Amino acid sequence: MTTVCAAAIDDMVLQVAVGAAAGFALARALARQGSRAAPGDGGDGKARGDGGVRVVDDDDKDAARNAAAGSKKPVVVYMDGCFDCMHYGHANALRQAKACGDVLIVGVVNDAEIKRCKGPPVCDEAERIEMVQACKWVDGVIGDVPYEVTDEFTDELFAKHGVDYVVHGDDPCLLPDGTDAYAYPKRIGRYKEIKRTEGVSTTDILGRLLRVGRKAAGETLEAAEVKEATFCTTSSRIAQFGSRTSVPVDGKVVYVSGAFDVFNRGHVEILRKAKELGDFVLVGVHTDADVRARCGDEHPVLNEKERALSVLSCRYADEVVIGAPAKITNDLLTTFNVSIVVAEDEDEYLIDGEDVNALAKARGLYRVVERAHGASVAGVAQKIMANRAEFEARNARKAKSESAYYATKKTVAET
Ligand code: CTP
Repeated sequence: MTTVCAAAIDDMVLQVAVGAAAGFALARALARQGSRAAPGDGGDGKARGDGGVRVVDDDDKDAARNAAAGSKKPVVVYMDGCFDCMHYGHANALRQAKACGDVLIVGVVNDAEIKRCKGPPVCDEAERIEMVQACKWVDGVIGDVPYEVTDEFTDELFAKHGVDYVVHGDDPCLLPDGTDAYAYPKRIGRYKEIKRTEGVSTTDILGRLLRVGRKAAGETLEAAEVKEATFCTTSSRIAQFGSRTSVPVDGKVVYVSGAFDVFNRGHVEILRKAKELGDFVLVGVHTDADVRARCGDEHPVLNEKERALSVLSCRYADEVVIGAPAKITNDLLTTFNVSIVVAEDEDEYLIDGEDVNALAKARGLYRVVERAHGASVAGVAQKIMANRAEFEARNARKAKSESAYYATKKTVAET
């Protein structure tokens, strides 16, 4: 982990707000568990699997609900994973896990373990932790957890972190010896299963990014290689992710728009900075056609509903306009009561020779926000291409187990 990444993470780890309804239940729960309520790191910016929990400040309604529960012990649930190229499937897993209890602690597996057990991760541990922390259903994060969930580690979760239940998706999770990784918490009745989100996986996104990288490198793709996205967005899924708060008429609305393709720490950073500028962050997710016209045929990697869901899962985004026009219009500014328009970068975005932000600039509403992490889709694709053989081998292995899952899957109710 580089110093920069560690600093970025620590910046995101906020003290539990004393006395605030939001932090009260969580602070009490974590205090009871003997966990540290501040950056739980070992001096190197890492929260250790055997150490503290990074507490994420959370003023959402779930925490308020917990506080309202009075003296009843909050139910602490734990979910672990790699959360590589964090996507809305991961976010939906965390949403369902949170619904299994009151406080959600997430264990993030370290880079070396992922490399050993699965193949190289696309995003390093610092970024993966940052992305999990940015998810609005997460209350605390433990880094550096083992890939293989041993009985000893599970006991430590129960004893040290006050975990009541371990939660995992309904896809089989096997140890190298072929046994069920969650056999122990299942046996003692402390396991809850949630439904895996169909149609999206890191393997699938990696495959799509590999195709972007290969195309950029001048390769011609076979028609059979171009896989259609299989994700089916329902209105209830959008509602589950949505904020249920409308744009305020008396607050400062900050509007940020863009592709938000392959949601990453650069996007989180800009949304966090936008939030600092006002009371309500409204995110315009551009249409697939606009992104294609601006970035090329292989873009976007994820369709506009998939991109919108990732944005909605972020704690700094209050509301999303799905398929927003790229051009800022008077109608858009007025309808949504926009006070500030935040730009993702300095590049002028021209449509038919006209700057899409011209009106915001003319009205003095336009701000460019500097960001340390400019992870572009092309950049990630290049990184994958640099280790192409390893990623292709990883994907071939994972694609096999994913196909087996889809061949035998049953209907599991969502939480
Ligand atoms: N998960 C899910 N739906 C998906 C992908 C992951 O519900 N489409 C859940 C997994 O079941 C697990 C958690 O998210 O409980 C973390 O998953 P992770 O360890 O990151 O990886 P995988 O299960 O291998 O998923 P992916 O290939 O997408 O990384």
